[in-house]
Amino acid sequence: MKLGSYADTGEIANFAISLGIDFAVIGPEEPLSHGVADALDQANIPCVGPKKELARLETSKSFTRLLMKKYKIPGLPQFKVFESMDGVEDFLNELPGIVIKPDGLTGGKGVLVQGDHFQAKEEALAHCRQILESHPSVVVEEKLDGEEFSLQSFTDGNALIHCPPVQDHKRAFAGDKGPNTGGMGSYSCADHLLPFLKEEELKEAKAITKKVLDALAKETGELYKGVMYGGFIATKYGVKLIEYNARMGDPEAMNALSILSTDFGELCSAIALGKLGKIKGNFEHKSTVCKYAVPEGYPAAPQSGKKIFLGDVPKNCRVYYASVDKRKDDLFTSSSRAAAFVGIAPTLEEAEAIAENGVSSAQGLLFHREDIGTEGLIQKRVQHMKKLRGE
Ligand code: AMP
Ligand code: GLY
Repeated sequence: MKLGSYADTGEIANFAISLGIDFAVIGPEEPLSHGVADALDQANIPCVGPKKELARLETSKSFTRLLMKKYKIPGLPQFKVFESMDGVEDFLNELPGIVIKPDGLTGGKGVLVQGDHFQAKEEALAHCRQILESHPSVVVEEKLDGEEFSLQSFTDGNALIHCPPVQDHKRAFAGDKGPNTGGMGSYSCADHLLPFLKEEELKEAKAITKKVLDALAKETGELYKGVMYGGFIATKYGVKLIEYNARMGDPEAMNALSILSTDFGELCSAIALGKLGKIKGNFEHKSTVCKYAVPEGYPAAPQSGKKIFLGDVPKNCRVYYASVDKRKDDLFTSSSRAAAFVGIAPTLEEAEAIAENGVSSAQGLLFHREDIGTEGLIQKRVQHMKKLRGE
């Protein structure tokens, strides 16, 4: 089999036709952004994965913000979209804290947060100027304070099946220190809530996703089929939307799918054929903890091409290979996260112990975050929210 390009949507459709496949499940955002779902739909192959215009939910930050504004959907921070520098400085002066987002797919690396990536307003202005040289627009918004959580929802454009919420850990090092990464690990809880999150707040997030789904249909005349992954933040002013992805989260997919008791094939078929309302999405009441082993130096200067050994993982821990190369019988690191270790158990404490034992058994120039899913870090999150809510 030869490797093709995601941009060659016609060839992808012809390949799918030649295999006589029933439906396609499109995982990552890049093929969606090229319109692979559109090409397959034209070939009468139903898809799990939205068409190009609908995938703008992820590929264009301004599209989602403006859609929510137009349809008066709650959960927006203060924001403005700029196509030139006109008015940028005045708006920056209005914001208590600043976040800058280039419009377009940036591989998750384009967002600039005041306090993390820059300090002074003058720097923010310079960043906006620079972004506008290579992007059609820039979204400038209020920096929100709170606890983030991921709500992954399956949809056929009408019905929604929400996964239990998950919390990811973006920072590279324990105690939420170091640079942002693709995600060092994540956890979910047996009660399908999170320790810092109130039931009403989860309901708010679900309601936002439902309203956005309906708005998408009104705006485009098409049904969104696939996954809406909402990156939400619980704040003292309620739940706000950080962003949507048009796919499952990495690592969050490993938490949610590990406890999905509905047959995944059946679920995907129901999404693709528009019959999701006819099935039930069930998730086991178990806690899950996922921890990534990543190459030393990740994310800035990962030690790639180094031999690693994952042979002694305890049997109760699941291992998912991510960015590793296999040469003969040996495994080598690549430039991104190497392997994920997932513990599933009745309590978070047990799930954490399983994941920690698993990830610790990996040998080579690797590191991981020991604190993910531990009581100490969870309590920090709980206290943070209590302080914000004034409890
Ligand atoms: P994204 O690339 O959109 O996932 O954003 C990366 C990270 O930037 C998010 O996970 C948040 O931690 C942070 N972020 C994005 N928007 C905001 C915001 N308005 N306020 C605070 N943090 C934000
Ligand atoms: N965990 C973040 C993402 O999948 O984008």
